[in-house]
Amino acid sequence: MSNLLIQNARMVNEGREFNGDLRIRDQRIAAIAPHLFPRSDEKVLDIKGRWLFPGVIDAQVHFREPGFEYKGDLSSEPAAAVAGGVTSYLEMPNTKPPVLDNEALEDKYHRASGRSRANFGFYFGTSNDNLEAIKRIDPKTTPGLKIFMGASTGNMLVDDPDILNAIFSHTPVPIITHCEDTPMIEAEMAKARAIYGDDIPVDLHGEIRSREACIKSTRLAISLAKKHSTPLHVLHISTAEELELFAPGPVTGKLITAETCVHFLHFARNDYFRLGNFIKCNPAIKEASDREAILRAIADDRVDVLATDHAPHTLEEKQLPYIKAPSGLPLVQDFLVVALQKVRDGHFSLPHLIQKICHNPALRFGIQERGFLREGFFADLVIVEPNAGTDITRDKVLSKCGWSPFEGEHFDAKVAATFVNGELAYDGARLVGAPLGQRLRFSR
Ligand code: DOR
Repeated sequence: MSNLLIQNARMVNEGREFNGDLRIRDQRIAAIAPHLFPRSDEKVLDIKGRWLFPGVIDAQVHFREPGFEYKGDLSSEPAAAVAGGVTSYLEMPNTKPPVLDNEALEDKYHRASGRSRANFGFYFGTSNDNLEAIKRIDPKTTPGLKIFMGASTGNMLVDDPDILNAIFSHTPVPIITHCEDTPMIEAEMAKARAIYGDDIPVDLHGEIRSREACIKSTRLAISLAKKHSTPLHVLHISTAEELELFAPGPVTGKLITAETCVHFLHFARNDYFRLGNFIKCNPAIKEASDREAILRAIADDRVDVLATDHAPHTLEEKQLPYIKAPSGLPLVQDFLVVALQKVRDGHFSLPHLIQKICHNPALRFGIQERGFLREGFFADLVIVEPNAGTDITRDKVLSKCGWSPFEGEHFDAKVAATFVNGELAYDGARLVGAPLGQRLRFSR
């Protein structure tokens, strides 16, 4: 195990930016102080005023294993994560088989162990007939229970009102929802097909998977959470109207929390003409005015968590016509530099961003001993050079799908190093050492 002293860091943590040194011992942060003197048994790394953040926790990813390993797996996608400064992730249940019982959940933990470079937690999933398995969930084993209240990749739609009521009333863990009303989407799709046949233009995606479908479903999820006093986290908010349904303020103590994703901060309707299916995702990227409202909602704390919804599909799949191309984008590797650009552009402060991508995921999902620069916590860390620049090119993509929606774009910051459990995992150019990601522990 490495003993390391990081000197001359510009740390960002819990609302503050400050200069100092940080000592790593036995996987953990041993000390944080303005000046620490090197000990004989430790290496010293002078980072010369670069930023030092807690490792990013991505609360929404699809890493595809088991079942869709040709798109991504629990080795390739965590590698892309650490190259982007993401040290922990919470992964979705729409794999094959889906995670509908404890056995499938533990199978994923088993698969990740020894292969994942980032720390891992797996969500439990819902179907129309797994209520008994849901009741038996041990709350320490999973961050939450995912309900697809709108149909998306995988066949996991649950929209029967009686079943939804039963799940909200019996779940032992927080519920997280994908909110889109499927009948409304199907009606819009039928209208588009009547006009365009099989040749629907992709820029209609946001009208087919409409804002009204999102708003209706999000309202329903919120009403169920209130009715049953169930903790609820609504994923990937994409419209200005939905933001009005959430309260501003600190995440701690909120029954109902909101998440948005990095692509909603960056892309808008115009980008369909340039990128087509490469930005097709569910819920859909909508208008520039939605993007502006979402950026403001990060600043005013209506949105509690910023994640990616990293959802790789192959180039071949994305080159299919609109109606056949699957929804989802690979995002985890570029997440931090894109989000930092929004700080540079003045939308919110740096401590605010760190709250949304490090502290709040840990607080919302009860992730133990991570997400903060605190003595005694695991040394999951990312060093960032604010001005070194990142050019997004296909040859640098580590995600198995081999492409990025940001190709050709330049971002000012660069991930200079990522540490997972106290060990260097990425040195700014390449992956380092063996996969040392650990199973996340959840306190309830
Ligand atoms: O765009 C999406 N892709 N949205 C989802 O809800 C699922 C995801 C996937 O798994 O591909």
